[in-house]
Amino acid sequence: MAELGRELRVGVVGAGGMGTRHARNLLRVPGVRVGAVADADPGRAEALAKDCGASRVYADGYELVLDPEVDAVVVASPDPTHASYVLACLEARKPVFCEKPLATHAAEARAVVEQEVSLGRRLVQVGFQRRYDPDLQALWRLIRNGVVGKPVLYRTWHRNARAAYGPRSNAEVLVNSAIHDLDEVRWLSGQEVRAVRSVVGCRVDRSLAEGVFDLQLIQLELGDGALALVELNLSAGYGYEVGAEVCGERGSITAGLPAGAFVRVEGDARVHVPADWLERFDAAYAAEVAAWVEHVRAGQAWPHAWDGYASLVVAEACAEALATGRPVSLTPEPPPPLYVTPA
Ligand SMILES: NC(=O)c1ccc[n+]([C@@H]2O[C@H](COP(=O)([O-])OP(=O)(O)OC[C@H]3O[C@@H](n4cnc5c(N)ncnc54)[C@H](O)[C@@H]3O)[C@@H](O)[C@H]2O)c1
Repeated sequence: MAELGRELRVGVVGAGGMGTRHARNLLRVPGVRVGAVADADPGRAEALAKDCGASRVYADGYELVLDPEVDAVVVASPDPTHASYVLACLEARKPVFCEKPLATHAAEARAVVEQEVSLGRRLVQVGFQRRYDPDLQALWRLIRNGVVGKPVLYRTWHRNARAAYGPRSNAEVLVNSAIHDLDEVRWLSGQEVRAVRSVVGCRVDRSLAEGVFDLQLIQLELGDGALALVELNLSAGYGYEVGAEVCGERGSITAGLPAGAFVRVEGDARVHVPADWLERFDAAYAAEVAAWVEHVRAGQAWPHAWDGYASLVVAEACAEALATGRPVSLTPEPPPPLYVTPA
């Protein structure tokens, strides 16, 4: 663990879009150096290392984790590699920021939780950057201020212009993409999901394999009886949009609508829509890695491994509901005490 006050030497595993974004954001955090980069593609690792002044380059992420000159690790490699890199970090007692999802199966995420609990330290932070988005944070605060009374419905939307990857199954769509929405509902509501009432979908992009749904509607029932309706649309065609409306007993609050300069011209009126997540969550990505550095120093990662695990349990229940056409009941487990203290 990095000592208080000493420079934090970070190693980045995965030098693609997210690894590059996190490395660049980390360079703006005082007291942090990006010292090492690993990527299965050595050219990418070299390029990012040059970009951020890192002197150590690896083709094997596990070697980076064991490098004694790496104090803390960012994992931004493909989803199926996450759990194993995170377990290696825990084995080496190093704090790790892991991109979502924490794992591709809840059972793997559970193994991470168990390993972390046995160490008695919150070393794992999961990249649910929406928790650091100024709009969604304002929504979270307004809910807690009681502005609309008790929330009864969380309606969220998550739209990409087109699928950024070629999903091969509905479970992959849920675990890779809807995982953000499932975590958002848990975070905004402070509730666990007690039932997946229904998941329906359809294929919008005809180039996807038949039976793979890039548009999915998820209906959830939360622990306090409130409902949630999650719209995930990977092929919305017009840009990238993530927002939420919370309806309470006295009113509703909406956050995340496209905003900024409103242009009226030639009989038309328009506002810019972000092209992708990098643009939409620019501020959130910077804030989450800055917060991670603080959490590394304080030993209180957030969102934590339990959040990564709990969201995967719901994602798997959604996949089952979609495959069977039947509701799936869940019995929310109380988190181990390690995860109860708020960060
Ligand atoms: N939080 C968010 O909003 C958000 C957005 C996009 C992607 N993601 C997640 O971030 C992760 C990376 O996504 P990306 O868009 O940067 O992908 P990317 O394809 O741009 O980058 C992934 C990089 O990992 C490298 N790689 C592949 N196998 C590896 C291995 N075994 N070890 C080390 N490196 C390996 C690839 O060569 C590539 O450079 C994914 O898990 C994805 O789900 C999160």
